[in-house]
Amino acid sequence: MLRARVALNPAAVVAPVNRRTFGSFVEHMGRCVYTGIYEPGHPSADEDGFRTDVLALARELGVTMVRYPGGNFVSGYRWEDGIGPVEKRPRRRDLAWRSIETNEVGIDEFAKWAQKADVEIMYAVNLGTRGVQEALDVHEYVNHAEGTELSERRRSNGAEKPYGIKIWCLGNELDGPWQTGHKTAEEYGLLAASTARALKSAEPDLELVACGSSSSVMPTFGSWESTVLEHAYDVVEYVSCHAYYEEHDGDLGSFLASAVDMDHFVNSIVATADAVGARLKSKKKINLSFDEWNVWYLSRFQNAPLPDEWGVAPRVIEDQYNVADAVVVGNLLISLLRHSDRVTAACQAQLVNVIAPIMTEPGGPAWRQTIFHPFARTAALAKGDVLETRVDSPTYETSRHGEAALVDAVATHDPATGDVTLFVVNRSQSESVTLTVDLTAFGPLAVAESVTLTDDDVRAGNTKDAPERVTLRPTADIPGGAVEADGGSVALTLPQVSWTALRLTR
Ligand code: AHR
Repeated sequence: MLRARVALNPAAVVAPVNRRTFGSFVEHMGRCVYTGIYEPGHPSADEDGFRTDVLALARELGVTMVRYPGGNFVSGYRWEDGIGPVEKRPRRRDLAWRSIETNEVGIDEFAKWAQKADVEIMYAVNLGTRGVQEALDVHEYVNHAEGTELSERRRSNGAEKPYGIKIWCLGNELDGPWQTGHKTAEEYGLLAASTARALKSAEPDLELVACGSSSSVMPTFGSWESTVLEHAYDVVEYVSCHAYYEEHDGDLGSFLASAVDMDHFVNSIVATADAVGARLKSKKKINLSFDEWNVWYLSRFQNAPLPDEWGVAPRVIEDQYNVADAVVVGNLLISLLRHSDRVTAACQAQLVNVIAPIMTEPGGPAWRQTIFHPFARTAALAKGDVLETRVDSPTYETSRHGEAALVDAVATHDPATGDVTLFVVNRSQSESVTLTVDLTAFGPLAVAESVTLTDDDVRAGNTKDAPERVTLRPTADIPGGAVEADGGSVALTLPQVSWTALRLTR
């Protein structure tokens, strides 16, 4: 039996848990909006055409903030196409996903959905084909109270009160040659800075996100952020990070250690941003908005180009997730939480159907993919402060990330309730690991809950016909799993390829 050890201390606080860590993403892409959140003819549809089965799952997932309306889509989007009488709205080509956008859903509809889902909106403006004026226009429409042309137009469209959107993305992935309106770092940095200045003249306390690299494999990774921040440092609060992970060529060991790469990604961009701050002699710190992250079998998508026909809401990248994917997603959340001092916003991409925890069939059911479970439980249990969590763990060799720990974890402590929660993965493909959790610094605590996601078949997933095939189970009920409290410590036996949440209470 392999052994690992961690000692927790309430005084070793990294940062408070940011509720925005549990963000998601709704892009006008594939079936995320149409037949995803919105399907007027569906049996569960409400008076606004929103699927209430999806709304219920979004709430259960614990999503706190949703980035909208893209993604690559936003770089060719005209926001005003999506307001006013629906029958007058234009149908347009969406070049990003080679489909037809009907504009039945626009910002007014999405704001209604967001209110029902109880989520904050993170709004992305188009800096691909558009610029400062259009960003100001959409801001005036959504956030200006009244008495101007666009705020009055919003009011006449039925939204008397402004939406009060606080966090704004200055475009999307403009470093990528695939992006409509792709720019050099210099061009984008200047545009982001002038857009940010203009938006802040309208509303000084907006929180603005400059585009970072679209992935760490981009040739300009690091230098892009540096150049952009040289221009925009004073007027933005965040730089974005995007990362998608997949299993390459059957190398499950490397895939399970994807969070090692995410840790490295975060540390690199924090160092880059701080270096710019030092050059500028600024006391301000730029935080990270990890506003696209997930498992995505991107190589399958890249090998199967988009359809020739221009369809409405085609099935695009509807990846079906398995147990290993869920363990990786749980581990990526561990990484994001561990960096809560600098990663203060994050969005899993995406929410429904498109590389998503929630799947739907048009006219049919909605169900939870495997990756739903670690997200939902982490969002529900991570409360209070993130604690420094240094696991003394056996290691293994990976071809992509070098030597990696078999056990990776992060803990939170809620001073209000006294609850301590540990989120932990066992990346071993062959052995259980017993993790001894030393809690003596907290005084007496009892095990309140310990749930694990694992399966003998790491490729097992949930489908429309077997939606509960993979779910969370009490750790102690699983072969190879156990929870034993002993004085000031807990011995948690973690089955191979598993994600676990352990909550202790006073
Ligand atoms: O989430 C899918 C796509 O991935 C987004 O549109 C884009 O920003 C990223 O490349």
